[in-house]
Amino acid sequence: MSNLSNNFIKDTILKLLGAIGSEKEIKKYIEKFSSPEQRFAVIKVGGSVIENDLKNLISSLIFLNQVGLKPVILHGAGPMLSAALEDQKIDFSFIDGQRVTSSKVRDVAHSVFSETNKKIVQALEAQGATATSLISNIFECTQENSDLGYVGAIQTINIKLINETLESDSIPVIAPIGHQENEMLNINADIATVELVKSINPYKAIFLSETGGIFNKNGQLIPTINLALEYDELMQEEWLHSGMKLKLEQIKSLLDYLPKTASVSITEPVNLPKELFTDSGSGTLIKHGYSVVQHELPNQETEKQFKNIIETSFSGKLADNFFDNSNNLKIFMTSCKRATIAISNDFSIPYMDKFGVIPEAKGEGLGAGIWHEMRKVYPQVFWRSRPNNPINSFYTSICEGCQKQDEWHIFWIGISDYGALKDCIEYAINKPKSVI
Ligand code: ARG
Repeated sequence: MSNLSNNFIKDTILKLLGAIGSEKEIKKYIEKFSSPEQRFAVIKVGGSVIENDLKNLISSLIFLNQVGLKPVILHGAGPMLSAALEDQKIDFSFIDGQRVTSSKVRDVAHSVFSETNKKIVQALEAQGATATSLISNIFECTQENSDLGYVGAIQTINIKLINETLESDSIPVIAPIGHQENEMLNINADIATVELVKSINPYKAIFLSETGGIFNKNGQLIPTINLALEYDELMQEEWLHSGMKLKLEQIKSLLDYLPKTASVSITEPVNLPKELFTDSGSGTLIKHGYSVVQHELPNQETEKQFKNIIETSFSGKLADNFFDNSNNLKIFMTSCKRATIAISNDFSIPYMDKFGVIPEAKGEGLGAGIWHEMRKVYPQVFWRSRPNNPINSFYTSICEGCQKQDEWHIFWIGISDYGALKDCIEYAINKPKSVI
């Protein structure tokens, strides 16, 4: 490897590591993603990313290569294909997002996809990685819809070739071109990705796009989506445009099919390392998710599960008298029993007494999911947290107000009356510790 590429790699790693999180988080994810039990990831790279952001894409992929992670890459080339067809004055149209493909369109598609594929492979190799072009030899197809012309419906995937490529330490870079015997067929890249993910069954499916996630009606990035809780609500939102709805529908069918540990991330190339190696990530993480149940007390089983989550999350012991007044306590818990919230109704305004997510489940979006469910029941709530608690940035982002004192930070939502607020703060400060 030349000195130039050595330096490039060193710089890239330093640049990316500096922007990331703690060493502990990074190590946790590298270990998880390197497990021999499950492939790491399938990464779909949109055509416009290759056109406009190739440098960041390559840096991020080289970074993964440097830490020993080999994803399977599948790329699009839609915008380049449209431009080439326009240049050559070849007409084209779409039916339900799929390109109607005449034999002329198919031939241009083959050459544009091959060119794009080689561009990625060459850029990776120029930075010292080994990569393999897989064009038209992965997807065995049939032609099912004559209205679409030379478009392939995937029947089988040549997993053996992908595995051999990975085992020879090379990154497979796949173009969405299939074949039926000797006839080449065009495949929509998102459809090819979904089928590829189903057959590889990796920890993660990653969609790299220029926008880098799903955004809410105020244009803010949605950091996590828990499908079990949020899918129906989201699909009814007017602000979610139809392209995103379609994508979310595809992602749901994917996650319904995969084990519950799998997840989908949508992010942009420059943020890929942060998305992968930190709990908070930097794009939109979508999980199958878990439902949240609201429990009435007393109930010994719930109390035991609650105690277990809180003691693991806070590395302490729950006070023996925590459940003494349990008629006034409401417990929210995810069905996986790894995240919980306790609301105490001892005071005139509901007080969030505990909010715990066990350390292994951090980064999955369980906290955001359970919070969302609790808030549907409690429009007014206040709580406290130690000034050095790492969760405070999340609290700051969701609260409507906060008072910082030496020993405690007090947060609230839905309380505007100054007198009531003063009493809440007083109550929170004087509340005895519940974890020792
Ligand atoms: N690093 C973890 C993963 O890749 C968590 C990512 C969290 N991302 C997010 N956008 N909330 O699975």
